[in-house]
Amino acid sequence: MEPTRILTAEHRVIETVIACLERMIEETRKTGRLDKIAAEQAIDFIRNFADGCHHAKEEDRLFPAMEAKGVPRQGGPIGVMLIEHEYGRAFVKGMVEHVEKAAAGNSQAISEFARHALGYAELLKQHIHKEDNILFPMADRIMSSDDESTLMTQFAEAEARIGENTHARLLAIAESLADRYGVAKDHIEHLRLHG
Ligand SMILES: [Fe+2]
Ligand SMILES: [Fe+2]
Repeated sequence: MEPTRILTAEHRVIETVIACLERMIEETRKTGRLDKIAAEQAIDFIRNFADGCHHAKEEDRLFPAMEAKGVPRQGGPIGVMLIEHEYGRAFVKGMVEHVEKAAAGNSQAISEFARHALGYAELLKQHIHKEDNILFPMADRIMSSDDESTLMTQFAEAEARIGENTHARLLAIAESLADRYGVAKDHIEHLRLHG
């Protein structure tokens, strides 16, 4: 269905930025230096696109719609996804706390930043895999076409709240990180055209 197709396309862009984050840490380990601009861009993207836009669509729209169809929140896949979103926020908080000192060359801050960044990357890759392969196929099975159009209206409202400019700005950040770290940009362009 269309709402899960959009969320899946967003996953591909989030994975693109995660690949950049992993290369950033690899570079930092080799050189002992963290690129402050790139690190802050990654945090900006994760907070405002992955969490602010994407997780908000899941938590406020898709998951409640699935609950209304009888999928329990507690003890089921939705509960697990919500907990993982919270773990993700904790990793990002750790990145934010250490980015400044890490970029200034403090080696303890660099290893703390790296630990949180790689923790986030690992968590999100597994999280996305579960949504793509378990949760979204489940949503596709239980949602009627009426539910689907309601969700599409709600997604459009969520997008409008974020604003077209912010959305474009965040995709531009993903693109500049992909350029910086030599990661393929096809999924960013795909979302821009079909998202
Ligand atoms: Fe999620
Ligand atoms: Fe997701």
